[in-house]
Amino acid sequence: MHGTIFTLLKRYVQTQYDHSTWIQLLENSGLTATDFDHKHVYPDEHMYRLVGQAAEMTGLSADELHEKFGEYLVPDLMYMYQRLLQPGWNTLDMIEHTENTMHRQVRSEHAENAPPVLNVTRIGPDELFIDYVSKRRMGALAVGIVRGLAKYFDEADVIKVEPTTNENGEEVRIRVRRIKPTA
Ligand code: HEM
Repeated sequence: MHGTIFTLLKRYVQTQYDHSTWIQLLENSGLTATDFDHKHVYPDEHMYRLVGQAAEMTGLSADELHEKFGEYLVPDLMYMYQRLLQPGWNTLDMIEHTENTMHRQVRSEHAENAPPVLNVTRIGPDELFIDYVSKRRMGALAVGIVRGLAKYFDEADVIKVEPTTNENGEEVRIRVRRIKPTA
């Protein structure tokens, strides 16, 4: 997986906990501090080990951690790829266009990059389904990213995100709706 994701995981642990927690996490995962930078691609196995160990250390489930981390990733990812963002897009529009903008760009940057396939079905202006497909089984990260996008677009209180299948599968269906704000 993309080094940026590892670099952001490091920053997430350092800011939510502290630097020594990150060092401890690396050690428990059998990795060394010099392992990551944003220009390289690293084995997915390292991410699984880090998240698995982090779950043991915090008592949170791997799904909960993936969701929190996904939410945390969004501002940086959006900043990195902001040139692909169209003015006027909201959360649902961004999700609908991720496949042919952000994820397409990520795929073209490095042969080893493999963001998940997101098959999006727009049901109407206020609703869509994401069919996530990836051998990495990181549907919980996708749920977190959607929450992060809702925050980014200032829609956190009106966007509802519900996985309608198990979040751990290679194929995960996620329903995303915009509800009417309560008066
Ligand atoms: C909108 C801006 C987005 C950007 C800039 C972005 C960028 C990226 C990048 C750089 C990766 C790493 C790919 C790799 O290492 O091969 C990635 C992976 C991933 N993306 Fe996105 N992404 C965006 C939106 C989304 C959305 C809307 C979802 C889901 C709803 C999503 C779900 C994921 C997941 C779950 C992964 C982890 C890898 C996997 O499951 O196979 N992303 N994305």
